[in-house]
Order: sequence, then C-alpha cells, then structure tokens
Amino acid sequence: MNKKVLVIYFSQSGQLGDIINSLTGPLTAAGHTVETIHVQPVQAYPFPWSGKSFFAVMPDCVLGVPTELQPFQLKETAYDLIVVGYQAWFLSPSIPSNSILNHPSVKPVLKNTPVVTITGARNMWISAMERIRKMLKETEARHVGNIVLVDKHANFVSFVTILYWMFTGKRDRYLNIFPKPGVADADIDNCKVFGSVLENYLDKGNYDGMQEELVEQKAVVVKYNLMFIESKAKRIFGLWANFIVKRKKRTAWLVAFKYYLIIALFIAAPIILTVDAIFFKPFLSRRIKRQKQYYSGVN
Ligand SMILES: Cc1cc2nc3c(=O)[nH]c(=O)nc-3n(C[C@H](O)[C@H](O)[C@H](O)COP(=O)(O)O)c2cc1C
Repeated sequence: MNKKVLVIYFSQSGQLGDIINSLTGPLTAAGHTVETIHVQPVQAYPFPWSGKSFFAVMPDCVLGVPTELQPFQLKETAYDLIVVGYQAWFLSPSIPSNSILNHPSVKPVLKNTPVVTITGARNMWISAMERIRKMLKETEARHVGNIVLVDKHANFVSFVTILYWMFTGKRDRYLNIFPKPGVADADIDNCKVFGSVLENYLDKGNYDGMQEELVEQKAVVVKYNLMFIESKAKRIFGLWANFIVKRKKRTAWLVAFKYYLIIALFIAAPIILTVDAIFFKPFLSRRIKRQKQYYSGVN
C-alpha cells in the first residue's frame, strides 16, 4: 500500500542530501510517496566557513538557540513516516536541525508519528542524538529508527580533513596525503540497504525489531573512545558556551575556545584515554556494553 513519507533536513555541502537520497531510493522504488524538504535558514550560514564564522556558531549550537527558516509548506497534515536528517555541530544538533524540530509546522505532524533520524557526521554524534531524542519525546513523536553515517578515519585525521573541507569548500585530498573528507561514497551508497530495511517495516506499519535489524546491518556503530571523549567534552562545551554568551568580548573568547579544542583533542584526549584504558575501562566492561546498547538503540 502506498504510504506518505516526509523527509526533512538541512545540508550545506549536499552530503546529507546524498545520504537521504540513498536511504529513500527503496521507498520511492516501492511506490511510496516521498515528500522531501531541504530547509534553508533565512540568514544563510557561510560555506565555506571562515575560522571566525565557524566558531561563532558554537554558543547557539550548544545552547540550542534556533534560527528562522525560510518558509516552506507541508503537503499533508499527517504522514505514515517522517525521516529527520540532522548533523552535529559542536556536539549538538546543528542550528538548522534544531530549528526544524522547533518549527511550528513540523511539531504537529511529528506527534504520534513514527520518526527515523539519520545523520552524516564527522564521528561525534551521540550528544546531538541525545538532544534530538529529547526533542522528539517532547513533541510525542515515536522514535523508531536511528541511522548514523560517519567518517571512519582516525579521529585526528578526520578532524584535519573536515576543517580543510569546511574552510575551503573542497572535498578532495588535503595535500594529496590525507583521505577525502566526510562520509565515504561507498557508505553513502550502502545506505540503500538501510532504506530496504525501512521499506519492509513501513509496508507492515509496525517497526518492532527494526532498530535491532538496522544495528545488525551496522547502521549505528558506537565506538568506545569517541563515546568516552564526547561524554567529557559535552559538559565542557556547555560551560564554555554559557561563559562566552555572557562576555562582551565574545570573539576573543571564541579564539580561546578554538585553542582549547585543539589542545583537548591532540594533547589531553590521548592522555585521558590512556589513563582510562589502564585504570578504568578493564573494570567497566558491563557498563560500557550497556551504554553502547543504549546509544545504538532508540528506546
Ligand atoms: C560548525 C560545525 C561544527 C561541527 N561539529 C561536529 C561535531 O561536533 N561532531 C561531528 O561529528 N561532526 C561535526 N561537524 C560535521 C557535520 O556534522 C557534518 O558532517 C558536515 O558539516 C557535513 O554536513 P552537511 O551535509 O551539512 O554538508 C561540524 C560541522 C560544522 C560546520
């Protein structure tokens, strides 16, 4: 039976759009009606970014301040399924993604509707997902699925390549040494596998067991080290954001935050991870397993 699907997302480079097209291919092929809305903020975010504009969005991302979106019209008042695409900015939902979930036209259609979330992140998406989960709960949406695509290269490698991509707009190999930034093309293409899983459950109108099947297909992989770094960093980002918004010389403090970030990632994180690996991780395997299960799931 033909089902009505709403897909709503924001993307700067088009990466999340490509991911979503790959995901929804099997839904369209099966004859479902897929209405896609690529939202645009009234005040566009620069792409490529300058160093200043990139760090300037940090406080609003972390504090969840939405922005105004250009007007859009939903064709239906109710949908069988809604796919929400989001990306992480500073361990938080990007400002446009946050604005989608706070939008007065979107909130009513989310209520009581099955929702699948999907992201194309660098590699730190857990805290942003937790915030999205909370927002979906507040709108009384039924969060039935979560799909996570990331750059699978080492953390420091993807940190360098994403900054190169974001600050130049070029998605090629930096210095011909580093790999291509972002989610691998093969992973974007493979997203159609998750789309087929989704199509099966959409057809039945029952999503019991879908997230477990998606996890088996590696639609979400939680990496311990990244989960660990993120859990510490999200609290510190919150402190920075709250501190910076109250300062008159915001730009100067954002520069300080930039240096903090570089030191935290390249110096502090490896030390803390080593200490954790020796003194804590070996004794916490059950707790770590539970945490991984929780972040892989939707309940
Ligand atoms: C300002 C900014 C902050 C970002 N912070 C994160 C982050 O905390 N974690 C992460 O995994 N990716 C982060 N990214 C990468 C994005 O999640 C995303 O992968 C990238 O911007 C490409 O998305 P697009 O489809 O909008 O072009 C950030 C990107 C931007 C522009």
